[in-house]
This record gives sequence, C-alpha cells and structure tokens, in this order.
Amino acid sequence: MQKLNLGCGKNYREGWINVDCCGQFKTDVAFNLDQPWPWVAESIDEIYCGHLVEHIVDLVLFMNEAFRVLKVGGRIEIKVPHYGHPWAYGDPSHVRFMSDESMFPFSKNAASFRHLGITCSFILKKTEIIVDKPRGIPGEIRWVLEKGK
Ligand SMILES: C[S@@+](CC[C@H](N)C(=O)[O-])C[C@H]1O[C@@H](n2cnc3c(N)ncnc32)[C@H](O)[C@@H]1O
Repeated sequence: MQKLNLGCGKNYREGWINVDCCGQFKTDVAFNLDQPWPWVAESIDEIYCGHLVEHIVDLVLFMNEAFRVLKVGGRIEIKVPHYGHPWAYGDPSHVRFMSDESMFPFSKNAASFRHLGITCSFILKKTEIIVDKPRGIPGEIRWVLEKGK
C-alpha cells in the first residue's frame, strides 16, 4: 500500500510517505506540491491532506495531480479550516478560504468548471462540517473524494 501524507508538518505518520516543503519537519520526501508531482500515474492507494490545501496556490494543478497519481478506487481525504472560523484568518500563509462547496468543481458532476483546466472527476463521497464545540461554530471541513472507474 502506497499512502501519501501531504503537508505532513509535525504530523508524521508511520507507514505513509510523508511529504512537506518545509525543511524543519521530518519527511520522507521534501517537495513543494505547487508543481507537477514526482509519483507515477495510478501508483497511490490513499492520500491524506490535513490543513494543507488552504496553503496551495494552484489548487487545480493539485487536484489534477491527486487524481492522476491515485489508483482507481483510491481516495483522498482533505481537511481545512472552515471559512467562518478564526483559524482560517490566523495564518498569513493561507491563500484561500473554503466552504463546504469548495470541492464540488473537482467532482464528476461539475462540467461547468472544465474551462479552468480541471481534468479530474472525483466522486464526492463525503462532505462534513466539524464543529468547534467550545466556540459553538463550524471549525473544519472534511471531504473524502474517490477516483472512480
Ligand atoms: C497547517 S500545517 C498542517 C500540518 C499537518 N498536516 C497537520 O495537520 O498537523 C500545513 C503544512 O503544509 C505544508 N505546506 C504548505 N504549502 C506546501 C506546499 N506547497 N508543498 C508542500 N507542503 C506545503 C507546510 O509546510 C506545513 O507543514
């Protein structure tokens, strides 16, 4: 099983290929994901990205590359801060704010976004808003997308 933990930061996962562009964290691959990825097509079983994609400048390239490297039936799990939470505004390296709609353009049913260069067509398996209980407001958004046949 080949599994990518992208933008791993301090969250190194044993048994995964841990990737980050920042030299201060332990990684297996030091790489800036804002460029074509080094993995071959259909070689990866699973991808996890925790609080990464809000830092990614070229999200279209990123999602197309995720789709390319995943095996058929492979899944990507993405977690980001919800746009309505102070976390979203608390890091100067965030380049975007996201809502529960933000992964729709990368799904099978989103033909109207193809002019943006989107070539992936994921099956959107899950969209979940995770509440920050102490504050009583949406904290994170979690998606699971699958590369279908
Ligand atoms: C907020 S941290 C999240 C760390 C970890 N995934 C977690 O959930 O605790 C974001 C991480 O993404 C990395 N990152 C940001 N932009 C990146 C890029 N273009 N390529 C690779 N890693 C990137 C940062 O260096 C940082 O370690």
